[in-house]
Amino acid sequence: MVALQSGPAMPMKLGPTLIDAGTLEEGISRLASEVDRDQNGRPVLLVGILKGSVFFLCDLAKKMKTPVSLDFLQVSSYGSGTKSSGNVRLVRDLSTDVAGREVIIVEDIVDTGRTLHKIVEMLGTRHPKSVKICALLKKRIPGNEGIPVDYLGFTIDDHFVVGYGLDFAESYRNLPFIGILEPDGDSTTGKESTVDSRQSAVKDAK
Ligand code: IMP
Ligand code: MG
Repeated sequence: MVALQSGPAMPMKLGPTLIDAGTLEEGISRLASEVDRDQNGRPVLLVGILKGSVFFLCDLAKKMKTPVSLDFLQVSSYGSGTKSSGNVRLVRDLSTDVAGREVIIVEDIVDTGRTLHKIVEMLGTRHPKSVKICALLKKRIPGNEGIPVDYLGFTIDDHFVVGYGLDFAESYRNLPFIGILEPDGDSTTGKESTVDSRQSAVKDAK
């Protein structure tokens, strides 16, 4: 777990691309095939964790042949910083009764794993037939090995990443790739760099 914003706002900028759009698409196609193989035609409820999972969930669902229903949960654990508080709060609940349903939780990234742990615990009390986890990314950090991710897109090193749904203080979500956020050593203003670096990065990626 990286902590980038420890005290007063540290200026950040978009660094190198970690996973480009084509590689993301290949990984998501593979995940869709894995889910289809396991479901073997049985319907599944995909539960997206807002907001980070929306791009991933839409692309995944479109590639699946399994009959899917969709629902969403929103929890808050980070606030606007980059360090998980561990205090996971339910902000928006499902509108679907999950009792007896096969459920796959769709999450953007597993960092400490605390968010998923809480969500699995909460859904478990509602008597679903099964609960699996599908995560686009998992950080290679000590302590999260025990989180049972059934379908995993990519394992990454311990960077703070943005794009394809992932944010830093609500910015960068609509990048079509995953990039690394890094301290802006050149900045003398103390202002977080967002739009400028993002636009040039999108241009570079085309
Ligand atoms: P965990 O509870 O520590 O596993 O944190 C999971 C949540 O924190 C994810 O759903 C993300 O919203 C957020 N998060 C963790 N790491 C990152 C990152 O590198 N970039 C953006 N958001 C992150
Ligand atoms: Mg977030």
